[in-house]
Amino acid sequence: MRLIIGSDHAGLELKNKLLEHLGGMSYEVKDVGTHTSESTDYPDYAAQVASAVSAGEADLGVLVCGTGQGMAITANKVAGVRAAVCADTFTAHSTREHNDANVLCLGDRVVGSGLACEIVDAFLSAEFEGGRHARRIGKITALEQGEQK
Ligand code: RB5
Repeated sequence: MRLIIGSDHAGLELKNKLLEHLGGMSYEVKDVGTHTSESTDYPDYAAQVASAVSAGEADLGVLVCGTGQGMAITANKVAGVRAAVCADTFTAHSTREHNDANVLCLGDRVVGSGLACEIVDAFLSAEFEGGRHARRIGKITALEQGEQK
C-alpha cells in the first residue's frame, strides 16, 4: 500500500513518530513535509497529500496539524478526497468501513503518540464495506460534481 503523509509545524513531532511506527511495516511511505519546526501553513501540505490521493498516486493519506481540523477542511476541498479527523480507534476503522475515508487527519495537540499509532493502524487495516455505504458515497460524489438535488 502506498501512503502519503504530511504535517505543518504543529504536527511535525507526531508525524515523525508515525513515520518511525510505519517504517517497521510493509507500507511505501512518501513524506511531503514539513521537515522543520519553522511555522508553516497547513493548507500547503493538505493540498499536496489530497491531490496525490485524488490522482491515484497514493492509496491513502495521513495529515497531522495541531487539531487535524484545518487539514481535513482543506483536504476535503479536493475532488475524490474524503478526509476524516479521528481521535479514537472506533472512528478510525468505521470511517474507512462506512465512509470510504481516504485521508486520516490527526491532531498532535489532541492525541498522544501511542494512541495516534493505534488510530493509524485501525485506519490502515480497515476496508470499505461497500453495499449500502456505496450508495451514500455516490451521493457525496454527486454533490461534489454539482449534481445536487
Ligand atoms: C497551527 O498553530 C494550528 O492552527 C494548526 O496546526 C491546526 O491546528 C489548524 O487546524
